[in-house]
Formats: sequence, structure tokens, C-alpha cells
Amino acid sequence: MPISCHPLPKAPESAVDFGVEVRGLDLENLSDSDFESLRTLLYTHQVVVIKNQQALSPSAQYTLTRRFDPSAGVYSHGAKISNRSVLHRDLTTIPSQPQVQVIGHGHIPSYEGLTDLHLQHPHHRTFHRDPIPADQDHDFTHFYRWHIDSAMYDLDPPLVTSLLAVKTPPRRFQTVLYSDSTNCTLRVPLGTTAFFSGSRLFSLLSPAEQSFVLTSKVEYAPHPYIWMSEAKSRSNGLGILSENLELPLPSLPPISPEKVRVYPMAWKNPVTGALAMMVYPTCVRKIHLADGTVMEDLAEVRETLYKLQRRAIDPELIYPHDWVEGDLVLFNNHGVMHSIVGSFAEEEVRLFRQCNMAGSRGPLGPDDQI
Ligand SMILES: [Fe+2]
Repeated sequence: MPISCHPLPKAPESAVDFGVEVRGLDLENLSDSDFESLRTLLYTHQVVVIKNQQALSPSAQYTLTRRFDPSAGVYSHGAKISNRSVLHRDLTTIPSQPQVQVIGHGHIPSYEGLTDLHLQHPHHRTFHRDPIPADQDHDFTHFYRWHIDSAMYDLDPPLVTSLLAVKTPPRRFQTVLYSDSTNCTLRVPLGTTAFFSGSRLFSLLSPAEQSFVLTSKVEYAPHPYIWMSEAKSRSNGLGILSENLELPLPSLPPISPEKVRVYPMAWKNPVTGALAMMVYPTCVRKIHLADGTVMEDLAEVRETLYKLQRRAIDPELIYPHDWVEGDLVLFNNHGVMHSIVGSFAEEEVRLFRQCNMAGSRGPLGPDDQI
């Protein structure tokens, strides 16, 4: 069967310009030329959906994901996640394939060598300052955290992430409440993964804002998921409220200055050359400006970034994937940002597999050649 591309379903009001379903690939036996086609499609469309992959083994998922970055090796957050990290509770490693994690919700008696799993879908009440009241939790939710899959310290962001829906609960919908300065809402399938495009965001910036993004760099906190573990999120998931709740640096594990990540704000697509504004607001600590000065005031840093990034999450710019069992989603982790969404009831059991590896290189900046 030849490889073919098909548009993803969209709400009538959607203005999303990325994402494609790809058919005609045998992922367990992918020729080099078919892989090259897939890679080109991924970097052209940012998000690729391949359906009916129930039989894909963890090892095959790893092999496919690694093909996008053959020099990569370790899981994106390293071999071991500190129990002080906010990510500790969300990730369970598959014993036979440590780059593949089990995520989901509810009780799973056994799966791939793991037994008696009690998974917890990250709920915004664990992270947001102003969670939705419990009596509205069934029908309403918030974006949990807009992010780039990455440790943002010591390790570089994976080039590509794969997510496989192994088991999903019966379908229902929830309404995302933004609860910011707007009254925006977005109707989404329960447990959607929501994406926005960094290049669309870049295109929406004014010339002056683009110039700022092209010439500034962002410095991320050391051990960011421990550093921000007491801090609380904005209600729309786009970064942290500045309430001085970050842990003081001396209380973090030992810090090696050379492991601190400083990245451009604009990342270049290695195939199309398009520039995407890619900044992970939760982990940001400083902005290095074009004139060499460094913006160190955390509240000012966050406000500056928030003003630039907020427009990216307007409802019509978001692709909320409607997961069906067997869906494999691959995404350009240097080109789109995503958020977990939704609040599951205890009996709504879901099981996913996530795979990515720390990038063998940092993101390409505006001046890098492709
Ligand atoms: Fe993620």
C-alpha cells in the first residue's frame, strides 16, 4: 500500500495548520526510504498520527523513535528520575525497554512485565493554584502544563516523541476553561493531548517581537522540576505564577554550571528551515538579551514570555488529539508544544506508552545551517 496523507479531523472553528494522518506504513518493517518519507512528513506537518498500531511492541516503538535521532540513547529525563522531581509520580519505566514509559490512569493488573499498576493521570489540582472545584471536575478541566518534553538540565530535548494509546476509556468530552484574562473555553475529548505550533506562534509575533525572539536566549533553571516543585501554575497551564515559591538553589542537588541549558528562543526546523518560538515557561529562569545583559527578575522574565506566548493557545490554534486505541502519534518536539489535559474518574482506565530520548544535539537556532 503506498504511503498517503490525510487531514486530521478539526472543529469548524479550528485554524490549526499542522498535523496529518499517515497511512500505508508497516512500522515493524520500515525501509530506509519509507522512514525518510515519514521523517519528511513529520517535519513538514509537526504531528503525525498513525492508526491501528495496537500490535507495536515497546522495542519496535523504541527502534522507530530512535531512528529520528540515531545517536540518542538515554530516556529524555535520564536513567533515573529523582523522587524530589514533580515528574517522579507520572512515569513508570517498562523493564525491558527503559526508554519507554507507561503513563495513564487507573488500575492495570499487568502489562509488559509490570504488575498491579495504579496509574494516575496528572491532574491540574496537583499543580495549579486555582483548581476547578471538585463538583465541576467531571465536566471541566484546565490545560495541565504546556511543555516541551525535556529535562532542560544536563540533557537536551528529544527531537521526536512517540505516544501510543494502548487502552482508552469510553469516549466523553470535557470543557477546558482558560480562566485567564479571557473567557476562552475549548471542548476536548477526555484526556486529549493538546498541541500548538511554535512556528505559527512565531508568525503571529510583531516584527519587533520577532526581533526580540530571534536575538534573545533563555536560561533554564538547574534541576528545574525540583526547583519549581512547590510553585503553582497559571490556570491556563502556560507557566508559573511568581509567588517566590521556587526552591533556593543551595537546597537543590549539586549543580554543575556546564549542565545548565541556555537555548535560543527561536528553533529552526531541520527540514523546512521554518522558525518556531519554543520556550518552556515552567522551567525558565533568566533571559539573555541581545546586548549581553541578563534579565534576572523572575517575575519580569515570566511576564515577558507570557505576553509573547499567550496568543499561541487561543482555542482555534490548538489541535486536541482525540485518542483512539491503537493511535500512534509522533511529534516534532522542537517544533510544537503540548499539554496533558483532563480529569479522569477512578473507573476510567487508560494506558499509554511514551518514548523519547534526550536529543543528541541541542535545538537549532536561527543562525544554524540545515
Ligand atoms: Fe510531554
